[in-house]
Amino acid sequence: MKALLVYYSKFGNTRKVAEAIAEAMKEAGEVRTINLEQLAAADFEGGDLVVVGTPTHAFSMPQAVRTALAALPPGILAGKSVAAFDTTVRPWPLRHLRASPKLLRQLRRLGGRPVVAPQTFFVQTKNPQRSGEIDLLLEGELERARQWVGDILDKSKALVKA
Ligand SMILES: Cc1cc2nc3c(=O)[nH]c(=O)nc-3n(C[C@H](O)[C@H](O)[C@H](O)COP(=O)(O)O)c2cc1C
Repeated sequence: MKALLVYYSKFGNTRKVAEAIAEAMKEAGEVRTINLEQLAAADFEGGDLVVVGTPTHAFSMPQAVRTALAALPPGILAGKSVAAFDTTVRPWPLRHLRASPKLLRQLRRLGGRPVVAPQTFFVQTKNPQRSGEIDLLLEGELERARQWVGDILDKSKALVKA
C-alpha cells in the first residue's frame, strides 16, 4: 500500500492528527505526509490511498483548502481510496456543521472512492482573545486517530478484494 496524508493546519492540531495517522499507517506500507499548501498534482502519482484532514472553519473548509482542491485536475483521485477528517471544537454537535463531510464530497468529485465515513477529532479552544487563539486536542483524540487507521485499512483492503 502507498498512502498520501494531506493536511491543512492553522494552529498545529490537524497536523498532529495527520502525523499520528501517518505513523500508524506506516505499519501497512509507504506513507508520505504533505502540507496542503505545498501539494502538487504529481504528489498523487502511484498512491492507492489518500487521506485529507482540515480544521473546521466557519462550519466548513477553510478557504485555503477549497482553493487547493479546486486547483487539482478533474479525476486526479480516480482509482484511489479516500478518507477525510476534520478537527472541530467540542461543543458543536451537528455533523453538517463540520468540514469533513464537505471535504469527502470534494474528494469524491475528484474521482476518489470513500472507504469510511468522514471523521472528526475534537479540540478545545483556550485563550479565545482576539490575539493568539490556541486550540488543544482533547485527551485521547490522537489514540482515536490511530484506531481510525485500522478501520481505513480494513475497508480499503475489502475494496481491493471486491
Ligand atoms: C477562522 C476560524 C473559524 C473557525 N470556525 C469554527 C467552526 O465553525 N466550528 C468549529 O467547531 N470550530 C471552528 N474553529 C476552530 C477550529 O476548528 C480550530 O481552530 C481547529 O480545529 C484547530 O486546528 P488547527 O490547529 O489544525 O488549525 C474556527 C477557527 C478559526 C481560526
